[in-house]
Amino acid sequence: FQNSVRQSQHVCAGEQVYVQKRKQVVLQSLNSLGINCSEDSVPHIALLGSGGGQRAAVALLGSLHQMKKDGLLDSVLYLGGVSGSTWSMSSLYSDPQWSVKIDTAVQTIVSSMTGPDVEWKEAWSWLSDRVKKEDFSLTDIWGALISSTIMKKMDLRRLSDEASRNATNPYPIYCAVEKYFFSEGSVDGKWFEVSPHEAGFTDLGLFIETSLLGSKLQGEKARIDMVKLQGICGSALADGETDIETITDYILKWLSEIFGFGLAVLRWLYDCMKNMMFSYEELLHRPFGPGDLAAEEKESLYGDLHQLIAHAKDTTKDRAILSDLEKLQQLLEDEHKTLRKESESKSLQRKESDDQQGSQQLSLESGGLITDGTFIMKVIHLLRKWEWGTTNNFLYKYQNSSLPPCLHTKESFHLVDAGLLVNVAYPSFLGDKRDIDLIIALDYSAGNAFETLTVARDYAAELKKPFPEIDEKILEEKDWPKDCYVFEGKKKEPTIVFMPLFNRNNCKDAEEVTAKMSEFSTFQLPYSQDQIVFLLKTGKENMKRNKETLLREFKKAAERRRSRKSVLQRISQSCLLSLV
Ligand SMILES: *[C@@H]1O[C@H](CO)[C@@H](O)[C@H](O)[C@H]1NC(C)=O
Ligand SMILES: *[C@@H]1O[C@H](CO)[C@@H](O)[C@H](O)[C@H]1NC(C)=O
Ligand SMILES: *[C@@H]1O[C@H](CO)[C@@H](O)[C@H](O)[C@H]1NC(C)=O
Repeated sequence: FQNSVRQSQHVCAGEQVYVQKRKQVVLQSLNSLGINCSEDSVPHIALLGSGGGQRAAVALLGSLHQMKKDGLLDSVLYLGGVSGSTWSMSSLYSDPQWSVKIDTAVQTIVSSMTGPDVEWKEAWSWLSDRVKKEDFSLTDIWGALISSTIMKKMDLRRLSDEASRNATNPYPIYCAVEKYFFSEGSVDGKWFEVSPHEAGFTDLGLFIETSLLGSKLQGEKARIDMVKLQGICGSALADGETDIETITDYILKWLSEIFGFGLAVLRWLYDCMKNMMFSYEELLHRPFGPGDLAAEEKESLYGDLHQLIAHAKDTTKDRAILSDLEKLQQLLEDEHKTLRKESESKSLQRKESDDQQGSQQLSLESGGLITDGTFIMKVIHLLRKWEWGTTNNFLYKYQNSSLPPCLHTKESFHLVDAGLLVNVAYPSFLGDKRDIDLIIALDYSAGNAFETLTVARDYAAELKKPFPEIDEKILEEKDWPKDCYVFEGKKKEPTIVFMPLFNRNNCKDAEEVTAKMSEFSTFQLPYSQDQIVFLLKTGKENMKRNKETLLREFKKAAERRRSRKSVLQRISQSCLLSLV
C-alpha cells in the first residue's frame, strides 16, 4: 500500500471539499439565527457524542432531534462519535437527508430498536461471509450481535460510499483506538479515526482511503460496512477487563439462539478448549456440561461432537485451531470410553426408571453449525484468545524510518473501542488539523462526570495540543454536575460546551444520578421501550434548557473566527508591506 498511504497533518482533499460545501449550510443557519457571519469566517463547530452503549446511542438521537427543532443543528460542521454514539450515528447516516427530515429519521431508528430482532438467517449470512476472512475476530461477532439485537438492522451500507454525498449533514467522524498502542505504545499511535474519505492514525498523520481499510492485497477494496464499523467502535469489552466470562456467555447464548444449538454444548466446548488440562472426571461434572445429561443423550451428544470436530478438522488449515481440535478429540475419546463402561454397569438399574428421560434435547442439525464446523471452533478459539478488531495493516512494510517499528512489521493491527482511552471524540478535533472553534460535548459516560473531560485535557497536554483550562473547583461537582458548563477557549484552544446526561436539572441529588446510571447501565442490553422513551426525552430536555447558552457560544465562535481572520489579514498585509 506504499502508494496509497497519505502522510500528513492536514485534512484530505475530499474532506476539504465537503467542509467547504457544508459551510454554506452553516452560514445560512447562523444568519437565520441572527448571527453575523460571512462566507470566509464561518466558525468550525463540532458536536461530539460519547460512549455509553445504548444509553449514549439513544440520548444522542434525542439531543440531535432537539437541536434541529431549535434551529441549531445546521450550524454544526462536524459530528464525531465514539462507541455507543456511533451506533446511532451510523443509523442516522443511512438516510442521506437525515438532518433535514429528522422526525422521520429518529422515528425509524427508534421503531427499529423497539421492534423484533433481526432474523438469524440474516445475521448468519453476514457472519458466514466474514468467517472466511483472515481478519475475522470477535469484533465481527459483536458487530452482528449489536446490529441484530440492539439496533436491529443489518446495515450493509459502506461508509466509503458516503464520500460522494452532498453537505446536507455534518461531516461524520467515527473513532477507535489501536489496541497495541493503547496498552503499551506511544500516545501518538493510539487514536484512530474513520471518515467517509479516510481512515488512519490521527496523531501520526497516516491515512488510507476508507474503502481500503482492512484490505489485504493491493487492488482489493475491503470497504467495511456499518455492521463491522459498529462492532469496531462499540467494542469496549475488548480490553479484557470487563468480566470476560459474562460476555463470553452472552456471546455464546446469542450464537446458540441463532443456530438453535444448545448453549450447554457451546459452553462446554468453550470450557474444554479453554482449559485443555481437564481430567475426564472433571469434564463429566462440568456444571453445564454433558454431566447433566442422561446416558443415551450423552452417547448421542458425543457422536455429534465427534462428527462436528472431524468436520471442523477437514475444513480448517489454521494450525492453532487444528491443534485445539486434536486435543479436544482425544479428550472426547477418553471420556467416551469411560461413559461406555459406566452405562454398561448402569443399564440394569436404568430399565426400572424409563420415565425420566428426554428433558434436554440437543439438536445439532440446525443452523449450519455442522456444515460450518469451523465457525464455532474459530469463535471459541477467538474467545480463548480474546481477540478483537483484527484489521489488515495498511502500513505493513511501509517504508519510512520515522515510524514506530511496530507499525510496519506486523501484518495486522487491532481496532477497538475509543472509549477505552477517551470516551468522547475530542482527539480528532484538537489542534490545527480541523481548527475547531467550538466543541459541544454531549457526555453520556458513566462514573465521575468530568472523567472523560480531564482525560482528554491530559491527552491534549501530552501531545501539546491546545485545550481550554478547567477550573479544579468545578471538579468537586463531579457526583452531581450542572447540566451545562462552558470552558472558554482563549486563543488557539477551542471553547468546550460540556453537557452531562444526568445532572442537577433532572436528578435531585448525587444519589439519584448514581441510581439513574445504574438503571441505564451500559451492559444491560437491549433497553426496554420505556427506557428508550425516557432517554430520548432526557437528551432533548438537556438541549432545550441550554439553547440560549449554545446560541451565545455560536455567536462568540463566529466573532472569534472573524477577529482571527482579520488578525491574519493584518499580519499578511504587514508582511507584504515590509517586503515592499
Ligand atoms: C457584521 O459584520 C460586519 C463585518 O465585521 C460589520 O461590518 C457589520 O456591521 C456587522 N453587522 C452587524 C449587524 O453587526
Ligand atoms: C443534497 O441533495 C439532495 C437530494 O438530491 C437535495 O434535496 C439537497 O438540497 C442537497 N443539499 C445540499 C446542501 O446541497
Ligand atoms: C517519512 O516521514 C517523514 C516525517 O513524517 C515525511 O516528511 C516523509 O515525507 C516520509 N517519507 C515518505 C517516503 O513518505
